[in-house]
Amino acid sequence: MKKQSAHTVWHHSTVTRGRREEQNGHKSVILWFTGLSGAGKSTLAHAVEERLHQLGCRTFVLDGDNVRHGLCGDLGFTDQDRRENIRRIAELAKLMLEAGTIALTAFISPFRAERNLARKLVPHGDFIEIYCSCDLSICEERDVKGLYKKARQGELKHFTGISSPYEEPEKPELKVDTGKHCLEACVEQILLLLEGRGIVSRGI
Ligand code: ADX
Repeated sequence: MKKQSAHTVWHHSTVTRGRREEQNGHKSVILWFTGLSGAGKSTLAHAVEERLHQLGCRTFVLDGDNVRHGLCGDLGFTDQDRRENIRRIAELAKLMLEAGTIALTAFISPFRAERNLARKLVPHGDFIEIYCSCDLSICEERDVKGLYKKARQGELKHFTGISSPYEEPEKPELKVDTGKHCLEACVEQILLLLEGRGIVSRGI
């Protein structure tokens, strides 16, 4: 990628992240959901967002299928395109962090290297990697979008878990067993983590 930043100067805002967080009444953070297609990343991210919203938090979900219609509409599923997809999302999530928001990202993000780059873009502790662990066989059985079937039949190339790799996180902040536990239990696990880290308070 060509560097365009040589003759640009960073402009500092007087409205800082800290002031935004103070106004919002909670800290901002990136909740980075990763896992196979069909593992439940989007469902879980939206369910967590719903609970956080009800608690009065400012939130936003960046979802793979949605973002690929717009910001990343020019990208496909080769390794190179997936890397660029995650690079853009990581930059976007970083801006949301600065904006005082709890950003929830739901992308397969199959490669450790790109997830680690996303992590390194922001201060330590602001990136929470949540591994939605679900056996390929369960994702394939669910096949909500019918994509696994197409991948098995060779109609879809580079499909994660079938013809493209998924590298499991080695040290995620949290592993949720979306293949075995119900949605509510997984949501609760995440809320407990956020409370434990002083990011939100349920006041109970
Ligand atoms: S990522 O690998 O670049 O992180 P992303 O999360 O944006 O992927 O998009 C994954 C979604 O795109 C899947 O949930 C699925 O609906 C759809 N999709 C279409 N083709 C593929 C493919 N070859 N591999 C994985 N997902 C695909």
